[in-house]
Amino acid sequence: MALATHLLPNTNILRVKHANGQQLTLDHFKVNTVESAIDLTSVADNEVIVRNLYLSLDPYVRMWFDEGYLPPSQSSLGLPLSGLCVGEVIASKATDKLPVGTLITANLEWGTFSRISHLDDPATWQASGLRILPAEARVKALNKSIPLSYYVSALGMNGLTAYAGLQVLGGGDASKFKPGQCLFVSSAAGAVGQLVGQLAKQLYGLRVIGSVGSDAKAAYLKEHQHFDEVFNYKTVVQQQQQQQQQQQSIDEALGAAILKAAGPQGVDYYFDLVGGEMLDAVLAVQNEFGAIVSVGMLSQENGRDKYGIKNLNRIVLKGTTIYGFIYWHHLKYQESGELQEKVGRLLETGKLHFRERTVDGIENAPQAFLNLINGVYDGGKVSIKVADL
Ligand SMILES: NC(=O)c1ccc[n+]([C@@H]2O[C@H](COP(=O)([O-])OP(=O)(O)OC[C@H]3O[C@@H](n4cnc5c(N)ncnc54)[C@H](OP(=O)(O)O)[C@@H]3O)[C@@H](O)[C@H]2O)c1
Repeated sequence: MALATHLLPNTNILRVKHANGQQLTLDHFKVNTVESAIDLTSVADNEVIVRNLYLSLDPYVRMWFDEGYLPPSQSSLGLPLSGLCVGEVIASKATDKLPVGTLITANLEWGTFSRISHLDDPATWQASGLRILPAEARVKALNKSIPLSYYVSALGMNGLTAYAGLQVLGGGDASKFKPGQCLFVSSAAGAVGQLVGQLAKQLYGLRVIGSVGSDAKAAYLKEHQHFDEVFNYKTVVQQQQQQQQQQQSIDEALGAAILKAAGPQGVDYYFDLVGGEMLDAVLAVQNEFGAIVSVGMLSQENGRDKYGIKNLNRIVLKGTTIYGFIYWHHLKYQESGELQEKVGRLLETGKLHFRERTVDGIENAPQAFLNLINGVYDGGKVSIKVADL
């Protein structure tokens, strides 16, 4: 896109108030526009200016609103939030690696433009997670076979988490999975969960069950994303709370719902995105020699009281294996092209159905983020479309 002037306004989303365990609200954010903030003629050596195109919204940002999570250098209030973005280089003095027109993904500011400096230092690339998109990304975006937003979702951190998390859960290289075994994934309609379920079926032939927070999400997963069974955990909790004498605790009620969805063979694998009572329930009802990969703790975030797990003794009795997972230990799948090859091909051929919602305008990022973490949307990945390609 041709830019008519070299002085451009920049809109950033700032973190202006701590939440410290309370519900996050719009008061914790500020939309800040500075006129003529970006001067395209003022690029330093080994620096680029990037026009942000898509911003990925990810639940982990919620933790940054509680004191003590961010390192001291980033913890001051009034600074822009950052997140995984797709961007286009629009001014460059790093032309050997990043000429004008290069499409990239990197951790950039929640804003319309970003500056990346010190590109002669490999630490800059590592710290910002900077990746140059394949040359065909522009063509595929324009012919709509792979939307650009996918590079920060299905082919970015979310896809990597689903793909690599399954490898870990299946013994490190997915070799323990046997067709017909049952995998349960929580927050199944979200950015990661929808991919976990579909990949587990398509790549490893597993039976897949999931939990979600609404009947509409459950119906969508079964109809369009081929989950075998899905239950609404909020209904299970409501029914438990309406019991006359509370015959079951919440984790027991969830355990019964998991077993009902799994069917007679029970649950072998659990891809945990929520922690809390659901994790407790799985520990109690999972088959012997089952495995759990702990990837997210959605139920323990956004002002909720921490839940104390009661069923840890079942790990001993059942020989359960629990793996911790963080995606940056598994970047090899991205760097080697394996993620692109395996997941990208399924996306392009339409075998993998990725549900996403793109909300227009960086100024709408705070409300969209609140909607995401509060489960207001009807499922899928949520990204902000900052600008057209
Ligand atoms: N370890 C890693 O490397 C890694 C990488 C990526 C993501 N993660 C983590 O994995 C989790 C899922 O990430 P995602 O991007 O796919 O998010 P997501 O599932 O799209 O997150 C939003 C959904 O969370 C659910 N949710 C909100 N509160 C909940 C609660 N109390 N209990 C259960 N579910 C709740 C809501 O769905 P419902 O309506 O269905 O409740 C909401 O729609 C997050 O915790 C994230 O931080 C970890």
